[in-house]
Amino acid sequence: MKPFTHLLTLSLLPAIQAKLLLDFNATRGDDPSTLGTLNLEAERGDKPDSNSDELYIKLGEDPDGNPALHFHRDEGYIRAEYHALKDEMESDTTYYIGYSLSMAQLQQSLMIWQFKEYSAYTDGSGGANIPLSLEVKEDALNFRYQASADDGRETQWSVVPELNTPHHIGLVINTSDDGWVELYWDGEKQEFDTTGETRLSATTFPGQAEPKFGAYRGEEVEIDTYVYAIQIGTEMEDIVEAAGL
Ligand SMILES: *[C@@H]1O[C@H](CO)[C@@H](O)[C@H](O)[C@H]1NC(C)=O
Ligand SMILES: *[C@@H]1O[C@H](CO)[C@@H](O)[C@H](O)[C@H]1NC(C)=O
Repeated sequence: MKPFTHLLTLSLLPAIQAKLLLDFNATRGDDPSTLGTLNLEAERGDKPDSNSDELYIKLGEDPDGNPALHFHRDEGYIRAEYHALKDEMESDTTYYIGYSLSMAQLQQSLMIWQFKEYSAYTDGSGGANIPLSLEVKEDALNFRYQASADDGRETQWSVVPELNTPHHIGLVINTSDDGWVELYWDGEKQEFDTTGETRLSATTFPGQAEPKFGAYRGEEVEIDTYVYAIQIGTEMEDIVEAAGL
C-alpha cells in the first residue's frame, strides 16, 4: 500500500465506524423518509401511496406538545409503518436498534415493531413470517418470537407501558439461523420470561429480514403513536440516545 493511501485509510476509519445506518430524531425535524419506505394500508390490500387525514405519518407533536413523528390511523385502517433498511440488512451481523415512542392506546393485536422476513417466508421455504415483534396481547406490550413458518409467535417478555408517556426500547439482533436477540426497556436490560436469561437464542434471519416501525393491526379503534427517535447501528454506542441507555 502506498503511504498516501495508507494515511487516508487511517484518517477515514473513525468516521466510518461511527456512522449510523439510520438516525431519525423528531426534535431535530428530520424528514420522516429518513426512516425508509412508507407502508400505508387502509382496508386489507388497499395501499395508498401518500398520507390522508384518516391515515398518516407526519411530524407534529404528542399530546403534551413534545415534537414527535405522529403515526395516525382512523378506526378500520390497518397499517401506518415505515419499512427501514429495505434489502440492506445482512446475515451474521449484530444490529443495534433504539426506538423511543409513546403509545396512546393499548389495543389488542396492535404491533408497534416487527422484524419481518421478506424471502424465506414468501417463497415457502419455511422461514417465519415475523421472526420478532412487539405487539399488544392481553393489555400488555409483548415481545414475541416466531421460530419458523410452522410455529406461532410466542411471547417471551411483556410489560404494561404507561400510555401517553415516552418509553425507550433497545433491541440487539444477531442476524443468523443460529442468532440471538437482547432487549432493553427504558434503559434496563430485560430477562426473557421464557428462559430467565437476557439473551434469547433465535432464528432471527431466515432469509432477508428487516425492521418495520409504526402501527399495524388493532384496527378496531383509532390508533395514535408518537415516535421521538429511531437509531440503528452496529455498535451499542450508536443507539444510546434513542434506547435511553
Ligand atoms: C453473532 O453471534 C454469535 C454467537 O454469539 C457470535 O459468534 C458472532 O460473532 C455474532 N456475530 C456478530 C457479527 O456479532
Ligand atoms: C433529539 O435531538 C435533540 C436535539 O438535538 C436532543 O436533545 C435529543 O436528545 C435527541 N433525542 C433523542 C431521543 O435522540
